[in-house]
Amino acid sequence: MQQRRKTVYAMKQAALGAGVAAARRSGAPLSMAATVFALFVLATFLYNEDIKSIADFPFGAGALRAKSPDLHLLQEAEAAAHHAVTTLAMRGEEAIVRVLDAPRHADIGIGINRTGDPVPKMVINAKVGTGGGGNGEELAEEKDRDVTLPRVAAMLGGGGAEEARRREDEEEAAEKASTEKAKAAALVTIRSVETCDLYQGEWVYDEVNAPVYKEAQCEFLTEQVTCMRNGRRDDSYQKWRWQPTGCDLPRFDARLLLERLRNKRLMFVGDSLNRNQWESMVCLVQSAIAKGHKTLTKFVNNGSSNVFYAHDYNATVEFYWAPFLVESNSDNPKVHSVPDRIIQWHSIAKHAKNWLGVDYLVFNTYIWWLNTLDMKVLKGSFDEGATEYVEVDRPVAYNEVLKTWAKWVDRNIDPNRTTVFFMGMSPNHITPEAWGNDGGIKCAMETMPIKNRTASLDVGTDWRLYAGAQDVLQTFRRVPVHFVDITALSELRKDAHTSVHTLRQGKLLTPEQQADPKTYADCIHWCLPGLPDTWNEFLYARIVSSPSTTTEQ
Ligand SMILES: *[C@@H]1O[C@H](CO)[C@@H](O)[C@H](O)[C@H]1NC(C)=O
Ligand SMILES: *[C@@H]1O[C@H](CO)[C@@H](O)[C@H](O)[C@H]1NC(C)=O
Ligand SMILES: *[C@@H]1O[C@H](CO)[C@@H](O)[C@H](O)[C@H]1NC(C)=O
Ligand SMILES: *[C@@H]1O[C@H](CO)[C@@H](O)[C@H](O)[C@H]1NC(C)=O
Repeated sequence: MQQRRKTVYAMKQAALGAGVAAARRSGAPLSMAATVFALFVLATFLYNEDIKSIADFPFGAGALRAKSPDLHLLQEAEAAAHHAVTTLAMRGEEAIVRVLDAPRHADIGIGINRTGDPVPKMVINAKVGTGGGGNGEELAEEKDRDVTLPRVAAMLGGGGAEEARRREDEEEAAEKASTEKAKAAALVTIRSVETCDLYQGEWVYDEVNAPVYKEAQCEFLTEQVTCMRNGRRDDSYQKWRWQPTGCDLPRFDARLLLERLRNKRLMFVGDSLNRNQWESMVCLVQSAIAKGHKTLTKFVNNGSSNVFYAHDYNATVEFYWAPFLVESNSDNPKVHSVPDRIIQWHSIAKHAKNWLGVDYLVFNTYIWWLNTLDMKVLKGSFDEGATEYVEVDRPVAYNEVLKTWAKWVDRNIDPNRTTVFFMGMSPNHITPEAWGNDGGIKCAMETMPIKNRTASLDVGTDWRLYAGAQDVLQTFRRVPVHFVDITALSELRKDAHTSVHTLRQGKLLTPEQQADPKTYADCIHWCLPGLPDTWNEFLYARIVSSPSTTTEQ
């Protein structure tokens, strides 16, 4: 029993050690306990609000003292560190978690340091005590060195190292077997997925198979979408599974997808709804990757890209901000004008050069078009300082932009290498009368999907843009573009928006704001886990069932 417990502990510690190693590779020196404290103080000045949330962690120095190595403590520290990361990640800063083993005591501290890199990075140090026993002392002596699984196991006693190695091998074999199984299962579904309309079907309440991941298990989720953590009470929105009428969606298998993505890049290009979907995809794949073998980098200086990297697969899942696809005055994700949006409808090259050579491209553009009935189209070029514009009817401008985009795709994409998707429109739920809830306030308090779609359901989707997208997509000759037809099935999900359980201007809504959904409810974006996971299951079905994108090259 004692032996077993040690091994579990060692494996845990090794996972944390991998984080240490990752941090070290990034060039940051490991800090000693004292430095951690100093950083904490420093951070208090730099990031007051974050410290507040860190101070809310359910422990303080001294609050946790244990006599023996305690898995629970490590988990707590880990959870705390991840919470800190998600708190910071929404600032667009890279966050690195380092968990350091500390001498003797089982106290835990968290510090934050800002590196001097041109791309600001947050480094979070979580110091984990290993208890007062002899093993703790041994570990303490090692604190400035990388902690690897076999070494920790060896420190903890004799056979541990071999046992750990054997387990690693076993796990690897099991992984392989499960990947093979999933591959076979996916092959079985190919035929049905190819011939069946995946978008015709119904939402089925299925607590067994949904959600695919848990909110608390995906440290990469930003606070914008973690509805339960932000105070939502009912979690039923996570438990609806899309059931196509004519076939089954293949079960999402992260390893299989990662195999497909080996040495490849998957990139979402578009607006915040596509970022919502990108976050979902990161969470869907990250569960299959061990700690320290995955990195999320947010480039804030050049404004526009978030890159999740799966080290062992040399695969990326990326997001590129371009809310209109073409150039616009909204191309900085942080600094842009909401009421006064201007596009340069024939200019796409500046963005598109970043899409070249990507293996899977997922485009969207919709929500930014809805603010005004007419779209402002620049006369001339932003680069030349033009400010004059003409106003063009929304669907006309939308079609023109999609034509610009389509032309680029047709000229620049090698269909033998790259698969292109275009996401249908993600609907809003702002008018409860539309689904017969006359006393409702936007999507607030909605806890059930619309069960029963009637022909007259009108939640305000601009179907003219949907039709425009379909028209343009039909003009493709050389490059097939998959239209992911999520609009109608998403219209049913009035229950799935972030509503008041989200951020506004980077800050969690206050209780007063939460009590005022009329002003503050966000009925545009979606909670995660949630609806965008289903959108990604459509991508998954296409990607794993497509014979043209084998990994052998
Ligand atoms: C890693 O992936 C990139 C593309 O995503 C590719 O260009 C590169 O060759 C890959 N590296 C290796 C070692 O295969
Ligand atoms: C942003 O900058 C980083 C580092 O300089 C670079 O690797 C990356 O490709 C850039 N991304 C874009 C979208 O320009
Ligand atoms: C794709 O590959 C096929 C077969 O190798 C080739 O005939 C075709 O010309 C290629 N298409 C393009 C656009 O390169
Ligand atoms: C759909 O709603 C209508 C009217 O509310 C009802 O009569 C009908 O039985 C419902 N159909 C299903 C399948 O629930």
